[in-house]
Amino acid sequence: MAFSPIPTAKSFGSDFLWGVVTAAAQNEGAVYTDGRTPSVWDTFAKRTGKIKGSAKPTHACDFYHRYKEDLLMVKALGFKVFRFSLSWSRILPDGTGRINKEGIRFYNEVIDECLKLDLIPFVTLYHWDLPQSLEKEGGWTSYKILNWFTRFTTVCAEAFGDRVKNWIILNEPMAFTSLGYMLGKHAPGKMGMKNFLPAVHHAVLAQADGGRIIRSLVKGANIGTSFSCSEINPYTDKTEDVKAAHRMDILMNRLFIEPSLGKGYPRDDFKFLEQLEITNKAWKYTERMRFDFDFIGLQNYFPLTIKHNSIVPVIQASEIKAATRKVPHTAMGWEVNGESFYRIIRRFWKYGSVKQIIVTENGAAYKDELKSSRVHDVQRIEYFKEHLVALYKAKHKGINIGGYFAWTLMDNFEWAEGYKARFGLVHVDHETQLRTIKDSGYWFRDFLNT
Ligand code: BGC
Repeated sequence: MAFSPIPTAKSFGSDFLWGVVTAAAQNEGAVYTDGRTPSVWDTFAKRTGKIKGSAKPTHACDFYHRYKEDLLMVKALGFKVFRFSLSWSRILPDGTGRINKEGIRFYNEVIDECLKLDLIPFVTLYHWDLPQSLEKEGGWTSYKILNWFTRFTTVCAEAFGDRVKNWIILNEPMAFTSLGYMLGKHAPGKMGMKNFLPAVHHAVLAQADGGRIIRSLVKGANIGTSFSCSEINPYTDKTEDVKAAHRMDILMNRLFIEPSLGKGYPRDDFKFLEQLEITNKAWKYTERMRFDFDFIGLQNYFPLTIKHNSIVPVIQASEIKAATRKVPHTAMGWEVNGESFYRIIRRFWKYGSVKQIIVTENGAAYKDELKSSRVHDVQRIEYFKEHLVALYKAKHKGINIGGYFAWTLMDNFEWAEGYKARFGLVHVDHETQLRTIKDSGYWFRDFLNT
């Protein structure tokens, strides 16, 4: 992108929320401690071949035992918000029914520690770690998930709602339904449309039901839900590539937000949408799918370039990788493109009925090297700078952006990529649990303090 001067943190306004994010399954570890039962990720990780390096989330960053020192780091880096998620199977070991007091105690301690340090706790209710006991009964493919999710949300609201006012209902429903229930690449490893179609619909309903529950139980709550989003560009201007990009755009960017805005599912010319509508009798649910969120969480990492590919089922489209196109990319192969970040934010704002946008995740993985207790992660710093320039532009074009949260505090269990993909501002040696603040962490500290 054309380079502009890096804005200062202050120029975003004094009430702008600067935060850093973690997620339970990726950070806590202690998966068999104090009454917690396995989540789908613990079970999935036991299957060989599904996760790089046969990695498991069993110990992760041991945040469960080290949260005090980790929160001190959040504070030292200058962030105001700490976003984290709640492990469902730590709170409700059977998925529903009985409450595990130890689970509640743990999150009470984390919340209280945040407040003591003057950090704002932003809680994600669901960041992909469904209790395995519920998966056995169908997980997100079952309509029963709505009762289970109601129970979980209610317990959390009642336990933490006196101190937690900021709630994110679901983290990236498109990611966990497509990777986990269509492509089998993430837990629980299910595949095919017969799983994907109901999983999408139940996630759409859960995100709205969850919002209503928090609204009714938590006084003064600020409620959002987080969507993954990516600008989609056709590889060529041939009609078939343009149409393929359009189909991808519906899946990646529109499927979950439009029903929440009361528009129902998108109804464009794409057979999949018809199947989604019919399988779920979706026309009956337009009202229930809607919820008046206080903010929409946007999570953006990269844009995608798409071409027609008749071999790929349903979507008939595939990605032309950034490396093939010789454009800048991260260690994940994801294109780095700050302008596309600006454009995708603008695009969501154009719906007109989104009250506020918070960027609830943005960040990059690089092949970091720890040498003499330092990690000189120059590329990650450049990534953040480029995206903050774009964010500033969006804010100053009049888009109501309330905050920006960096993904992620420290190198953690990166799902199917295991521990090899490092996204943290803090380097973690997963053998010794030694934390080392990377140059990008120090860069953020200086950025936030000037
Ligand atoms: C997810 C995180 C994940 C990150 C990087 C987001 O899609 O919410 O859990 O680690 O991307 O892949």
